[in-house]
Amino acid sequence: MKPIPMLDLKLEYEYMKEDIDLAIRKCLDHQKWILGPEVKELEDRISDYIGVKHCIGVSSGTEALVLALRALAIKLKGKEYFDRNDEIITTPFTFTATGDAILRAGATPVFVDIDPKTYNIDPIKIRKYLTQNSKLKTQNSTRVVGIIPVHLYGQACNMDKIMGIAKEYALFVIEDVAQAFGGIYNGSAGSPQKLGSIGMAGAFSFFPSKNLGGFGDGGMVSTNDDEVAELVRILLKHGGKDKYNVNHIGYNARLDTLQAAVLLAKFKYIDEFNEKRRKIAEIYNERLAGLGDLILPVTYHASRLTDVYHVYHQYTIRTSKRDELQVYLKDKGISTMVYYPFPLHKMKVFEGRSIIHNSFENSEKACREVLSLPIEPLQSKETTDQIISSIRNDGNYG
Ligand SMILES: Cc1ncc(COP(=O)(O)O)c(C=O)c1O
Repeated sequence: MKPIPMLDLKLEYEYMKEDIDLAIRKCLDHQKWILGPEVKELEDRISDYIGVKHCIGVSSGTEALVLALRALAIKLKGKEYFDRNDEIITTPFTFTATGDAILRAGATPVFVDIDPKTYNIDPIKIRKYLTQNSKLKTQNSTRVVGIIPVHLYGQACNMDKIMGIAKEYALFVIEDVAQAFGGIYNGSAGSPQKLGSIGMAGAFSFFPSKNLGGFGDGGMVSTNDDEVAELVRILLKHGGKDKYNVNHIGYNARLDTLQAAVLLAKFKYIDEFNEKRRKIAEIYNERLAGLGDLILPVTYHASRLTDVYHVYHQYTIRTSKRDELQVYLKDKGISTMVYYPFPLHKMKVFEGRSIIHNSFENSEKACREVLSLPIEPLQSKETTDQIISSIRNDGNYG
């Protein structure tokens, strides 16, 4: 039996080969490797697509978070960095980069547990922390300045609640959209909003395995705020409008022309590919329902007043026998992944550098139980069937 990978980037390349080869050929012809015309074209196309005023290409999703945060420190505090008394709320159930970016911007991450159904940060717990914190405010000088919700696995956080809290407490929101390119939130705004257009800024990743992935690292910051956009553009080029006479502590964090060219070619397929992911998820949802203690992804918010367009960066199930199931599928040649085995609050890097309060029961349980199944957009119906049959043949789920 042929092994089944989580993703098959070679297959995707074959599917888009003509467009990608042509895009690369164009770069070879013009030789404008640094901030070439493809970077601006990609920024314009994506800002139209997401519905924001500005998109700025950067070198990775991690840098997108750091640059957005640094720009906000300069805009809001008039300082290069946040300081340790500035707290930024985020989820512990995410990729390290989310919390790490907060540290790199000089602030302190405050971890808040997730909703066990959606795996996204729980707004009730955000409010709880803020209420407790504001009572303590007179005794300590820390204060919460912002929230970074992560649209995990491709599904929107409850943005109505999060934006409501942010408004009430005058906090900024930076959406971590690394896993949710093309995802939509349909909340109280009245019309559907693309993820990355709701907060003060959005941070996207073009890591090769992402829904829109390049042939290397890449990322993007989205924002409607002119000043944030301008600052991100300055910071990514060493910190000055003039490279030889700079104002800020900057980075070399440009998006490569070549990556932008590949991304432009692949962008043509993003809606089709997100739809393909959703179709595969539908088949999984139908045929894995009610098996043993398997819990399938939930695609509604608890209030049911909102609707989301989940783009299934991952199709993640959970079971108390997760490790057994992973080994069993591996023996059958089926790849699976655990996103994530450790919550951020248990990592050494955040020890003494973050605020850990209350319990993280939901995140810790998720780390023990989640398992992501292959969801290659071009995966055949037979392959999906084979994965499902293998799970059904495991005595625990038959
Ligand atoms: C939720 C989340 N945030 C941030 C990042 C960082 O993106 P990058 O790998 O492009 O730096 C990732 C990527 O893995 C991610 O999944």
